Amino acid sequence: MERILTPRRIGANAMSLGTLAISDLRCIEQAEVELTPGLTLLWGENGSGKTSVLEAIFLLGRGRSFRTRNNERLIRRGTDRLRIVGQVSAAGDAMQAVGFEASRTGTTARIGGRPAQSLAELSQAFPVQAIEPGVHRLVEEGGYRRRRWMDWAVFHVEPQFMDTWVRYQRALRQRNAALKTDPAQAPAWDPELARLGEVIAESRRIFLDRMQPYWATAVADLSGLPVTLHYLRGWNLEHSLTEALTGSRARDELRQLTHAGPHRADVAVRLHGRPAREVLSRGQQKLVAVAMTLAQLRLLQDQTQTTPTLLLDDPAAELDVERLQRFIAEVAKLRCQLVVTSLQAESRLFGTPERTFQVRQGRVQPV
Ligand SMILES: Nc1ncnc2c1ncn2[C@@H]1O[C@H](COP(=O)(O)OP(=O)(O)OP(=O)(O)O)[C@@H](O)[C@H]1O
Ligand SMILES: [Mg+2]
Repeated sequence: MERILTPRRIGANAMSLGTLAISDLRCIEQAEVELTPGLTLLWGENGSGKTSVLEAIFLLGRGRSFRTRNNERLIRRGTDRLRIVGQVSAAGDAMQAVGFEASRTGTTARIGGRPAQSLAELSQAFPVQAIEPGVHRLVEEGGYRRRRWMDWAVFHVEPQFMDTWVRYQRALRQRNAALKTDPAQAPAWDPELARLGEVIAESRRIFLDRMQPYWATAVADLSGLPVTLHYLRGWNLEHSLTEALTGSRARDELRQLTHAGPHRADVAVRLHGRPAREVLSRGQQKLVAVAMTLAQLRLLQDQTQTTPTLLLDDPAAELDVERLQRFIAEVAKLRCQLVVTSLQAESRLFGTPERTFQVRQGRVQPV
């Protein structure tokens, strides 16, 4: 009897982006793409626009790109506004339209036909994560990326976290402004800053504690290296944030900057006690960053009953055959919506795609 190959199974809680319409993003003037809830492959030559399509999807869920902090660079040359609209559905829910627009003066988002209050609402409407050739920077670069990595997950586990975080940022800006113009007023912000800051630090700590078992499995399976993650909350462990703010007041006034607080938090990535960025090769850094990403997705899957969509840009880059096989096996366990780019039309790394598009000079054509 002929063996029937069952298609790659998608989890019941997986997020799914259906129709995606892009206009004036990088080299893409207009594109309409119908993604499948399973595996979509985008293939094309260098510079054809594959990563730009993934950027469009990422923008819908994050309000920013994984390639640049400057949304203006994404707007197609010679035009003044980019637009992306997608139909998103979560586990058994009805479809909802999510839209994102960026012009030279700012960005706006719409969810379910209504303007979003903040871009942060996008991450709730459409959880999406990307693994792209720059992913190793999560290990290599400063704390900014690791804080963002942590906060995106904490926000999904604890929806009120974003509000606390926004209020903390506001208080911090006010305190820093006071340090520049009227230092005697700066301590007036300390009670608010300390209260919100402690809440943020505690939420992040809980998240990282819960992450540890997922992390241990993911990093061992992927890299085989005993790499550890240590949460550093942004001020001395022996003091409360109030004490730390008081203690660093002289330095704060001198440098006109607030030194203690969760805005200085980090996740130290270490191998045998040494910073991973100093001892790991680039390929190993990529594996560690991939492990951080996948561990986080597994945790969210268990805690929130939703599996984010995963974008894989040129996933084979920098990985040897064996590491790539392990990566593929880990991704398969997620059973999430996958959108993968490749230079090869026949790429079958993640199984047989249910839908394939060829990208050519900014045009996206179904194959
Ligand atoms: N703001 C912009 N306006 C117009 N074109 C742009 C803009 N920004 C980038 N481009 C062009 O868009 C093209 C698409 O690049 P993209 O990175 O999406 O290609 P790619 O298919 O992922 O290539 P590779 O295989 O090399 O990764 C490039 O040729 C780039 O020069
Ligand atoms: Mg690319």
